[in-house]
Amino acid sequence: MPIPSDGTPLTALITGASSGIGRATGLELAGRGAQLVLVSRGRDSLEEAAAEMRAAGAKEVVVCPGDVTDEDQIRAAVSAATGRFGRLDVVVHSAQVMAYGTVEQLPREIFQTVVDTALHGTANLARVVLPVFREQHAGHLAVVNSLLGNISAPFMGSYVAAKWGQLGLVRTLQLETRDEPGISISIVQPGGVNTPIYTQAASWVGSTGRPPPPVYSPFRVARSVLSTLDRPRRVVQSGVFNPIITAGFRLVPGVYDVLVGPLLKQLAIANDDVPPTTGNVLESRPSGNATEGRWRSI
Ligand SMILES: NC(=O)c1ccc[n+]([C@@H]2O[C@H](COP(=O)([O-])OP(=O)(O)OC[C@H]3O[C@@H](n4cnc5c(N)ncnc54)[C@H](OP(=O)(O)O)[C@@H]3O)[C@@H](O)[C@H]2O)c1
Repeated sequence: MPIPSDGTPLTALITGASSGIGRATGLELAGRGAQLVLVSRGRDSLEEAAAEMRAAGAKEVVVCPGDVTDEDQIRAAVSAATGRFGRLDVVVHSAQVMAYGTVEQLPREIFQTVVDTALHGTANLARVVLPVFREQHAGHLAVVNSLLGNISAPFMGSYVAAKWGQLGLVRTLQLETRDEPGISISIVQPGGVNTPIYTQAASWVGSTGRPPPPVYSPFRVARSVLSTLDRPRRVVQSGVFNPIITAGFRLVPGVYDVLVGPLLKQLAIANDDVPPTTGNVLESRPSGNATEGRWRSI
């Protein structure tokens, strides 16, 4: 982790800080006495997360409600960080929304917002953050991607497209910043994690989703994020079966294609009955945000 040489605490901006992995990462960084700037669309759950991070030891927490798909709002959050703290050491990008439904079922607006959040959200952040890192000759951007950035799954086309695109974009950013050795960019790819993303998701499949096993705690993924901040790596897996599943997808696609649909229905779709819902895709539902979801995790 780029520790400021003058002894001041680390300054980190986190997107998606009001829920799940972003919130858990904020709490882990708070435990290290960091100065934090928190970004997500809804103010209420962001304030709640900020209070928890102050209690967990953060030196200072600034709340900046904003949408990653709006470059001006991201610029305002980054300016708040550099204006208040004089520097920005780390950016953790964890904002995302999800939708269940075939490409034919999902309304265009839902499909587009899921993809935009990952693609334009990441590009907006890069356009605003990388010049700050270049001026400092230091900084670390960690992007939370997914196992679904490597593989495909039916009923999750918008999210798969979002995460494949985000992976390609961030690998490109890694190449484009090779001229500045002080800048590190990492990708973290979790498998199933116990967060509210599944109950917040849009769904056109008649049920909500759930995390496929083994279900990790968001704190476990947060520790993977911190490990790559401490020791930068291009891509970090946070899921014990990720390499096996990815190998199956690439090496034996015929077998993969036969198994993935039934396994997804069995392990990653809940047994409930819900009418079509836009979930939190088009606007924040702060009451549904929390650090952890409702599943048992390891
Ligand atoms: N949970 C899993 O099993 C899992 C697995 C693999 C990868 N991931 C990845 O991990 C990351 C975090 O997911 P999570 O599970 O922690 O989800 P989560 O609990 O639903 O948290 C998502 C966060 O993103 C914020 N957000 C959504 N859209 C935004 C936007 N346009 N601008 C700013 N903030 C926005 C949400 O707050 P508001 O709605 O208030 O904006 C919330 O704080 C995502 O990249 C996800 O793809 C998760």
